Amino acid sequence: MNIVILAAGMGKRMRSALPKVLHSLAGQPLLSHVIDTARTLAPTRLVVVVGHGAEQVREAVGAPDVQFAAQDRQLGTGHAVQQALPLLDPSVPTLVLYGDVPLTRTSTLKRLLAAGSERYGVLTVTVDDPAGYGRIVRNAKGSVQKIIEQKDATQDELEIAEINTGIIVTPTRQLADWLAALKNDNSQGEFYLTDVVEHAIDAGIEVVTAQPDAEWETLGVNSKVQLAELERVHQRNVAYALLEAGVTLADPARIDVRGSLECGADVSIDVNCVFEGRVTLGDNVSIGPNCVIRNAVIGAGTRVDAYTHIEDATAGSKVVLGPYTRLRPGAALGDEAHVGNFVEVKNAVLSRGAKANHLTYIGDADIGARTNIGAGTITCNYDGANKHRTIIGDDVFVGSDTQLVAPVRVANGVTIAAGTTVWKDVSEGKLVLNEKNQVSRTDYVRPTKKKS
Ligand code: UD1
Ligand code: CA
Repeated sequence: MNIVILAAGMGKRMRSALPKVLHSLAGQPLLSHVIDTARTLAPTRLVVVVGHGAEQVREAVGAPDVQFAAQDRQLGTGHAVQQALPLLDPSVPTLVLYGDVPLTRTSTLKRLLAAGSERYGVLTVTVDDPAGYGRIVRNAKGSVQKIIEQKDATQDELEIAEINTGIIVTPTRQLADWLAALKNDNSQGEFYLTDVVEHAIDAGIEVVTAQPDAEWETLGVNSKVQLAELERVHQRNVAYALLEAGVTLADPARIDVRGSLECGADVSIDVNCVFEGRVTLGDNVSIGPNCVIRNAVIGAGTRVDAYTHIEDATAGSKVVLGPYTRLRPGAALGDEAHVGNFVEVKNAVLSRGAKANHLTYIGDADIGARTNIGAGTITCNYDGANKHRTIIGDDVFVGSDTQLVAPVRVANGVTIAAGTTVWKDVSEGKLVLNEKNQVSRTDYVRPTKKKS
């Protein structure tokens, strides 16, 4: 089939300079959600109708399989679809979706296609409060006769609770004629896509309806309030899918997944964690409260304690992280490594069993197996112009408050005394320290507070 996504509207009620369809839901533009869903149906043509903020929209969602049709003036939904016509394959049906209706599921669209792709299909839903929507008008036999917009409806028609979601499937060959025949003699002076229904019926084509699995699938975003509401619906769905898959969540209302989160068996996640991009958690991983984890792979049995931030990093199995650890891009922790509070690791490898438990910066470094990094250690990786690497071997003991001035290499088994500035390479097994004699003086008198 062809798929047309309408995304030309301005979205005045968002009160924002950003085109409405580019506002984010779960970290992705609304329109990207619709395009992703469209792709699951493998359309032969995928056309997005752009108007308001067209350049920005093209740039944000442009991809080889997406074509754009320009609607320079927003003269109505029928007029919008008309702009896409030249890009459509007339021999297959056309499904129309909306760039501001992000949560429609593939299963619902498949149901509409099954009912309507040989005919004319409208996705409808019966709601408690139909105010604002187009109403589905049926005859005595229950067949759809027309769709009437709220602003054009009679008192009787306003009582109808079955509404038009806007999502339709239509034959494509006749669509050009039907759209060309649309009139804008209605209260909004627009060319309504909804009026095509009457043309289809006149052409002897049956108009059928299908319903979504859930009402929220058809909800659109017109304001920040609705955006926030749909974000909650989406996050709740994701949380419940995780629970169904066996993940323990301390509170399904307090997790945010902005991307994909894959979990092994017996994973547990405490409250207020945010997952972004692609995150994979192995079996028996436990995540403490208030962690932010973006694009990461975390191995089996690893424990991530509270307030840990991880971005573009990996951790092996049985690693212990946090509380208050920061792993920045390129941090790679071997199995059983420990990285503790106020330790920042960037573009660095910690081998199996290496430990940096307190107040440390490890950047552009390779740390050997079982090496212990004392509190307050800093790899001085930046000379003011370029970055350099620090290479530390296996079984090294790095005393507290050590500075390693890169580029520098420390061989296996070295012991570095507390407070050392290491600025030359150290060979295997040595003790390294800066000579500073400790002096104890007897002639010192403590100052006393002066009386005023
Ligand atoms: C439309 C339907 C209404 C339905 C409702 C569901 C029509 C005439 N009415 O009404 O029956 O109940 O959706 O939400 O179709 N757009 C364009 N170009 C335009 C006009 C609109 O791209 O010229 C896009 C908008 O950006 C939006 C979508 O089409 O994403 C719907 O347009 P909108 O004006 O919101 O239609 P409604 O009045 O809500
Ligand atoms: Ca609307």
